[in-house]
Amino acid sequence: MGPQAASLVLLILFFACNGVNSSSVQQKIYVELKNTFPCVRLLNATHQIGCQSSISGDTGILHVLETESDLNWVLSSGPNPPYLVLMDAQYFNRSTMMRFRDSMRVAGVVLVIPKSSPPQGFSPHNSCPNQGTGVYSKNYGPELADCNTTVWNPLGDGLSYEDFNFPIFSLHEDNDTDIIRKCYQDHNVGVNNSAPQYPLCAMQLFSHMHAVKDTVTCMRRTDIQSRFSISPEIVCDALTDYNVWASIRPLNNTAKGHLNGEKLVVAATRLDSRSFFWDEAPGAESGVAGFVTLLATVQALRAVTETAPTPNNILFVFFQGEAFDYIGSSRMVYDMKNGKFVIDLDNIHSLIEIGQVALRRDSKLWLHSDPVSRKNSSIESEVKKLVSNMQHAGAGLRFSLDEPGVTQPLPPSSFQRFLREGVIPGVVLADHQSAFNNRYYESLYDNAEYLNVTYPPNLSPEEQLEFVTNTAKDVAEVATLVARSLYIQAGGEKANLPNISADPKMVTQMLYGFLVQPNNSWFRALVAPDVVQKLGPRPLQYYIGVHDKSDPIKTSTRIIQYILANFTGTVTNLSQSQCQNPENLPGESKDLYSYLWVQGPVAPNSTQGEGYCIRAPVRLSRAVSPAFELQDYGSKDYSTWAESRWKRINARIFLVASRDLEMLTLGVGVGVLLVSLLVTYFINAKADVLFSSSREPSSTAY
Ligand SMILES: *[C@@H]1O[C@H](CO)[C@@H](O)[C@H](O)[C@H]1NC(C)=O
Ligand SMILES: *[C@@H]1O[C@H](CO)[C@@H](O)[C@H](O)[C@H]1NC(C)=O
Ligand SMILES: *[C@@H]1O[C@H](CO)[C@@H](O)[C@H](O)[C@H]1NC(C)=O
Ligand SMILES: *[C@@H]1O[C@H](CO)[C@@H](O)[C@H](O)[C@H]1NC(C)=O
Ligand SMILES: *[C@@H]1O[C@H](CO)[C@@H](O)[C@H](O)[C@H]1NC(C)=O
Ligand SMILES: *[C@@H]1O[C@H](CO)[C@@H](O)[C@H](O)[C@H]1NC(C)=O
Ligand SMILES: *[C@@H]1O[C@H](CO)[C@@H](O)[C@H](O)[C@H]1NC(C)=O
Ligand SMILES: *[C@@H]1O[C@H](CO)[C@@H](O)[C@H](O)[C@H]1NC(C)=O
Ligand SMILES: *[C@@H]1O[C@H](CO)[C@@H](O)[C@H](O)[C@H]1NC(C)=O
Ligand SMILES: *[C@@H]1O[C@H](CO)[C@@H](O)[C@H](O)[C@H]1NC(C)=O
Ligand SMILES: *[C@@H]1O[C@H](CO)[C@@H](O)[C@H](O)[C@H]1NC(C)=O
Ligand SMILES: *[C@@H]1O[C@H](CO)[C@@H](O)[C@H](O)[C@H]1NC(C)=O
Repeated sequence: MGPQAASLVLLILFFACNGVNSSSVQQKIYVELKNTFPCVRLLNATHQIGCQSSISGDTGILHVLETESDLNWVLSSGPNPPYLVLMDAQYFNRSTMMRFRDSMRVAGVVLVIPKSSPPQGFSPHNSCPNQGTGVYSKNYGPELADCNTTVWNPLGDGLSYEDFNFPIFSLHEDNDTDIIRKCYQDHNVGVNNSAPQYPLCAMQLFSHMHAVKDTVTCMRRTDIQSRFSISPEIVCDALTDYNVWASIRPLNNTAKGHLNGEKLVVAATRLDSRSFFWDEAPGAESGVAGFVTLLATVQALRAVTETAPTPNNILFVFFQGEAFDYIGSSRMVYDMKNGKFVIDLDNIHSLIEIGQVALRRDSKLWLHSDPVSRKNSSIESEVKKLVSNMQHAGAGLRFSLDEPGVTQPLPPSSFQRFLREGVIPGVVLADHQSAFNNRYYESLYDNAEYLNVTYPPNLSPEEQLEFVTNTAKDVAEVATLVARSLYIQAGGEKANLPNISADPKMVTQMLYGFLVQPNNSWFRALVAPDVVQKLGPRPLQYYIGVHDKSDPIKTSTRIIQYILANFTGTVTNLSQSQCQNPENLPGESKDLYSYLWVQGPVAPNSTQGEGYCIRAPVRLSRAVSPAFELQDYGSKDYSTWAESRWKRINARIFLVASRDLEMLTLGVGVGVLLVSLLVTYFINAKADVLFSSSREPSSTAY
């Protein structure tokens, strides 16, 4: 009974203290931080990357990193380790973070995201993105593998692929950061560089991760649990979402596999991006500019293909999860190969992929192609024809089109996944000749400001939505080029080319919606009522994430689905219930079309839109890596990226009175634990005595 009695005394002491220090004091010394985004743990076949805290959170004395001497304080001279470091963006790079990791004196890091981006550039991604899962390998262009000839992302320091055993959070510069800085200034700055006196301002971060080691391990744990447990505890989930695709003429989505006598021109781009932090991925240049270009392309082709259709159909594909070893494209190619998609690889005439296109230098765009497949003379002549078609299509536009040298491989692109399965003529359109122009590749600075999607002051949200930025004009030109190229490539008459041009106003609305403000009147009118609920004030983020039954499809994916439906579909007069089930109505077919109910524009004097039903050849297809389909979690060919689960993401600051008090608090914690264990034991042991009267009759049978 001795130890328990002691802890009970401690407990009473603790509550007594709390009673004396009234609740206002508690508020002063205890602040929960909002609007923070953590770095979380991701796993692939062989590694874990990202960050985590211990199970009860990591606590350290707060130190604000402002000068080199602060760095020294944290790493060696400061007397109260471990430290929790609040830092500005200029210190946040691989070398500093690795020094923190090696010092063992850092309990966690909070990065304050500045309003303006670091001028020297910053990319926490690899310098050779998707190195192991593209087409180049020791069997295919070995001299081009591993970025041997071209390092695509030279600023990439690989920080996102390191494993940290302390938590790292990001915080947007606002009132919270002021509170933290004030707490630090008031309590932690010693006079004349001497050690500061207790009480000190401390910070605690919670981001404990359930999964460890690699995807093989965490999926095996999950599999065992779901086999033997009624309420399985899942520790990690595959990164998944949906690809979006559409075609000029509808394809029968029930009939899979080879489509006799059809050759389609494929236009592809990617939907996603990432950064060091979870769900912070603005992806302006790396994703948004490309998919907005393709959306504008679809719209530009609409009118002409209705009056003067092309002999060949055109397939538009938006791939999801490409940042993580080509999740979306590898899945679609896998489905094509196995007769599970509406067409197969032999149905592909040629492919045009839109890469990063918004940062042109000297008004130039580049057509990248694969030097290895071009050694085949028939492919070579197809690629030459495609390039000359595109150059013809680009005549009269405000930029020129060129090819980089013949020895340069393709940049990281979905097209590489197609080439792994067969020779297909194709090009990747990009704004860079060799290394990326993007100085913030897969970082949180790749945002609207970087693409100059900014507005004159004093414009209302509605006026911003309609304001045509120069960036929008440039992107519209690229879309015009792509649309005209696709039209010729699909066999259309060159005489009709002048009729094809993308609408800068549509482009500017898309850039505003995807980069600045998703909750705008245009998006609200365009999407389904349940999507409207999800349009928050925060700009959309393009990290693929994990999606389950409760939240099956990423919001940005659905917006793209509905915009595509608006650009390719027709308005019907079906009612909302007919829209859900049009199967028996004459002239309607779910094999050929999706039927989507949209909110519709809201009249000024009303709160609810007049909804209507669109019939459109637009589809979603699963973007889950074939590795998870095949349960081959150690796959070398397919993406194996999974995200760990967690219970609690949380950050707070408080004052610690002294090391002794910390120990006391710990003691109380241990005491409470012991007491509750004992109580549980006691209750269990004496359960029949304690609860005999309240038991259910059925359970007495046991
Ligand atoms: C990382 O940041 C530190 C502190 O600002 C700086 O001294 C160092 O040069 C940076 N390292 C790199 C590789 O940029
Ligand atoms: C890179 O390519 C060159 C030229 O083919 C070759 O000599 C060299 O060995 C390659 N380097 C690596 C690391 O593969
Ligand atoms: C998993 O990720 C780590 C860290 O980026 C990398 O070194 C490793 O090659 C990856 N493993 C596979 C099988 O791709
Ligand atoms: C931040 O502080 C200012 C003034 O101190 C206040 O007006 C504003 O509402 C605060 N913002 C938030 C998000 O708390
Ligand atoms: C701090 O240092 C300055 C100059 O070295 C000295 O004049 C001052 O008295 C010191 N302050 C305290 C509080 O020790
Ligand atoms: C689509 O294909 C399926 C299976 O081949 C077939 O049963 C169906 O009739 C087709 N639908 C249309 C509208 O052609
Ligand atoms: C070249 O590609 C075509 C398919 O486009 C294929 O039929 C042919 O066998 C290839 N030639 C060589 C030499 O690989
Ligand atoms: C953005 O504006 C700056 C300054 O006018 C210019 O140098 C830069 O090229 C512009 N960037 C884009 C993507 O238009
Ligand atoms: C192209 O535009 C011209 C002039 O506006 C029009 O006469 C012609 O019908 C259009 N052609 C197509 C295929 O839309
Ligand atoms: C979106 O904007 C509308 C109109 O300004 C507003 O009523 C609604 O609350 C906003 N929705 C969210 C989630 O912020
Ligand atoms: C597309 O949206 C516009 C409003 O922006 C609307 O007028 C038009 O009817 C829509 N078309 C379809 C097919 O949904
Ligand atoms: C709203 O305004 C429209 C025209 O602006 C009018 O036709 C309609 O009757 C009005 N509805 C209500 C409920 O006032």
